[in-house]
Amino acid sequence: MEQIDIYHDGKEVSRVVVGDGLNLDSGLGDCLKPYSHVFVVVDRQVVTKSRAVYDLVQEFIIKAVPVKAVDVSETVKTMESVMDICSWLLDKGADRDALVLAVGGGITTDMSGFAATIYKRGVRFAYIPTTLLAQVDAAIGGKTGVNFEKYKNILGVIRQPEFTYLCPQVLESLPAREFLSGAAEMLKTFIISDGGMYDKAVAYLKAYSQDRTATLERKEVELKELITAAAAVKAGVVSRDQFEKGERRVLNLGHTFAHAIETLSQKEERMPVLNLNGKDAGMTHGEAVAVGMVMAARLADELEKSGQGLVNRIAGMFRKPEDGLAEKLVADLAACGLPSESPYSIKEMAQVMRKDKKAEGGKVHFVLPKAIGSVEVVDLTVDEVVKLLK
Ligand SMILES: NC(=O)c1ccc[n+]([C@@H]2O[C@H](COP(=O)([O-])OP(=O)(O)OC[C@H]3O[C@@H](n4cnc5c(N)ncnc54)[C@H](O)[C@@H]3O)[C@@H](O)[C@H]2O)c1
Repeated sequence: MEQIDIYHDGKEVSRVVVGDGLNLDSGLGDCLKPYSHVFVVVDRQVVTKSRAVYDLVQEFIIKAVPVKAVDVSETVKTMESVMDICSWLLDKGADRDALVLAVGGGITTDMSGFAATIYKRGVRFAYIPTTLLAQVDAAIGGKTGVNFEKYKNILGVIRQPEFTYLCPQVLESLPAREFLSGAAEMLKTFIISDGGMYDKAVAYLKAYSQDRTATLERKEVELKELITAAAAVKAGVVSRDQFEKGERRVLNLGHTFAHAIETLSQKEERMPVLNLNGKDAGMTHGEAVAVGMVMAARLADELEKSGQGLVNRIAGMFRKPEDGLAEKLVADLAACGLPSESPYSIKEMAQVMRKDKKAEGGKVHFVLPKAIGSVEVVDLTVDEVVKLLK
C-alpha cells in the first residue's frame, strides 16, 4: 500500500492511500480502524454496476454500518441533496465522532464532503472515489460543494478528508467515456508537472481506446502507477497552496475554456454530461478540458507571436512555448480518443468567460502550457484572449 501525505503549515492534514482491493480485510480496513462510527454515502448506480462496491456495501450492512444510497447528477448536486444527507445523519444519530465515508464519483464526494463539513459544525469524512476523475482530481484537495442557481460548485468550502482511498480495480465497471473523461484530467496533471508520466499515460490511453478490456486486465500495474503519480502531483500542489492563493491555480489548465464549452452546451439543453447514463449528451467535463488544454496551448503560441504589446504588459515573464506543442497535444488526444476542437467560436465562449467566477478585476488567470511538464500562469482579459485566438 502506498501513501501520499498532504500537508498544511508543516502538519499532515490528509492522506491518499493507494490500495489493492475494496474489502474490509484490505488496506481499506486499516484506514477505517480508528473510526468507530462510520456512515456510508454511496452512489446507487455504482452499487448496481460495480461488483467490488456491491460487496463492500454488503460488508458494511452485515457490520450494521448505516448506508445511504444516493442518486447523482449535476442537477441534483444541490443544497437540497446535502440537506437530505444531513437529515439522514441526524436520523441515524450521527454525532461529533462520526466519519462520513463517501463512495462514488466526484458528485458523491463533493456533496457528502460538504454535508460533513456543515453537519454539527463539521464532522470527519473520507472518500473512496470510484471514477478516474475523482481518483486523480475531485477526491483530492479538499474542495467540497454543490451547484447553486446557474453556477457550478458555487457553494462550498475547502476542508480536507481524513483520507482518500484509491482502488484502481473499481474502475473496471466505469463506462469508457467516463474513464476517458478522467483521463483528460490525468493528462492535464502531467502536462502541469510530470512530463515523464505524460508519455506513459498517452501510451496507456492509446491501448485503452483500442481495446478497453484487454488493457484494463493486462496493464493493471501501469494504471496504478499512473493514478498514483497523478494523485501525488495534485497532493503536492495542494500541500503547497491549499486555499488557491497561487500555485493551485495551475490545476485549472484548460478549465476556463472548458467551463465556457460546458455552459454553452447546457444552454442548448445538451447537458454536458457528467452523468451520461448510457446516453450521448454533449461533451463530458474531461472532453471539454481536453479541448481547453489545446486552446490554452494555442493561446500560448499566439501570445508569444503577438510581439511587444501584450508581452510587455505581462512584464516579460512569458517565455516561448515549445515549438509544435499545440499540434502534439491534438495528435496525442486524438490517439487517446479525446477531442481537441471546440464546437463553439471564441466569441461565443468569451461571453461566458467574462462571467467566470475565478476572474479577478476583469482579468482571468490563464494557465498556459510551455512544454509537457511545465506551465505558466498569465493574467489576461477575455478581450485579449479573443483577439489572440480569433
Ligand atoms: N472537488 C474537486 O476538487 C473537484 C474536481 C474536479 C471535479 N469535481 C466535480 O466532480 C464531478 C464530476 O465527477 P465524476 O466525473 O466522478 O462524476 P460522477 O460522480 O457523476 O460519476 C460519473 C458517472 O459514473 C458513474 N460511476 C461512478 N463510478 C462508477 C463505477 N466504478 N462504475 C460504473 N459507473 C460509475 C456515476 O453513477 C455517474 O453516472 C463534478 O460535479 C465536478 O464539479 C470536483
